[in-house]
Amino acid sequence: MKNILPILLLCLATAAFSQATITLNADLGTTTISRQIYGNFSEHLGRCIYDGMFVGENSSIPNTAGVRNDVIEALKKMKIPNLRWPGGCFADTYHWKDGIGPKDKRPKMVNVWWGGVTEDNSFGTHDFLNLCEEIGAEPYLSANVGSGTVQEVVEWTRYTTHPGGDPMADLRKQNGREKPWHVKYWGIGNEAWGCGGNMTAEYYANIYRQYATFMTDWSNTGGLFRIASGANSGDYHWTEVLMRDIPHNMLEGVALHHYSVIDWKAKGPATGFTEEQYFATMKQALKMEDLVNRHSTIMDKYDPQKKVALVVDEWGGWYEVEPGTNGAFLFQQNTMRDAVLAGATLNIFNNHADRVRMANIAQIVNVLQSVILTDGPKMILTPTYHVMEMYSVHQDATLIPITIQTADYQVGTEKLPAVSASASKDKNGLIHVSLTNIDANKSQEVTINVRGISASSVTGRVLASGKVQDYNSFDQPEKIKPAKFTGATLKNGVLTVKMPAASVVVLELK
Ligand code: AHR
Repeated sequence: MKNILPILLLCLATAAFSQATITLNADLGTTTISRQIYGNFSEHLGRCIYDGMFVGENSSIPNTAGVRNDVIEALKKMKIPNLRWPGGCFADTYHWKDGIGPKDKRPKMVNVWWGGVTEDNSFGTHDFLNLCEEIGAEPYLSANVGSGTVQEVVEWTRYTTHPGGDPMADLRKQNGREKPWHVKYWGIGNEAWGCGGNMTAEYYANIYRQYATFMTDWSNTGGLFRIASGANSGDYHWTEVLMRDIPHNMLEGVALHHYSVIDWKAKGPATGFTEEQYFATMKQALKMEDLVNRHSTIMDKYDPQKKVALVVDEWGGWYEVEPGTNGAFLFQQNTMRDAVLAGATLNIFNNHADRVRMANIAQIVNVLQSVILTDGPKMILTPTYHVMEMYSVHQDATLIPITIQTADYQVGTEKLPAVSASASKDKNGLIHVSLTNIDANKSQEVTINVRGISASSVTGRVLASGKVQDYNSFDQPEKIKPAKFTGATLKNGVLTVKMPAASVVVLELK
């Protein structure tokens, strides 16, 4: 009995970990992971713009031209590469000329999609584009097709990008901005199949052609990047029609929206959810792999050289609003569930970087899967923020192809792959591996066979907490934050990583 005790203990220790094996081909990368995959989305919805980002120049909250300094600093640190605005559904009701000129003279409007509140247009084109310059993000303007006109969009391109000698450029100058901004990314409508006009794919493809014809690059962007309003999750017919009917010299990107929702009629709470609800959210999130594969396959048929990008310009977890808050404001808390959802989704985007060249998590502050939450002068960074910041090492790095075998995460009779990963090599030759373990209960021992380089050291950071339901609150703002990771060892080209349950790990090899 005495002799078998150590063996028994070893078996028990091993049994506590599920196993995964990854092969990382460090010398085989050819595709760049566009930094634009790490983009965000801001909409005139609830407390996203007003309160969340913009408090006005006269606010007692420290601000730069009305935008909260704490938010500006956090977004810079997260290395936000692009920001989509002004919607969402709101975009197809927005008339940009209402948001320029002296603020006290701007017309008001009613925000019909989001609670019928009065929008005073105090945050407009100048405020948004100046903010993008301040945080170093590329602006992505979502143009009104549903209730606007071609002329309105064309004038917006001139107002923002024409150097001068054009009535719109001169109006911009009158409003205090001499030089054009750099506005490359333009969405032509949003959810044209729904809130953007309830159009058919065939009808929208024609409308798109009309808009794209008259939209011209006037200055400094090296050509506009025009993005067609894309499919709702698994609506493959939509992508097929856009790729077939829109000439590809008019089309730089096709969008896709997919939210991880358990059930639109019973979305479940953002905190205090059951393990079954957690599993159901993960199932919806991991569907992204299939969606990207199938939409890409359709795009490959019409565009085998992959010139047109797949732009996942709305994604994330969507739950019930926080109790006691306005149902139309979509304010939800953000837990470790959201962190692993983000980690697993970003791994999917990275691994499909040949086609997915932009993505925008919804939404940046105080709405859906936000990276930042605010309460008056207080601001907290969510677990999702930390994942976006940890994964920023992949921005513009070369994707390293990997193969992965993983144990399953099982709840009831249903199973999902527990571990996901992606890897890249940056311009300094550093290798980064991001790993997500979605299993709420089991740790994982991941064996990574590193081929193609001789790395001699590994360091890393981990995001984990006791429970998937854990979150950062205004009372405990740093309950969840990245910590130094000590669970990785490297020996003879084999990396062994011991990941906690429900965790995100980013490693650096050199
Ligand atoms: O992100 C909230 C809403 O979800 C957006 O306005 C719309 O595009 C989508 O349906």
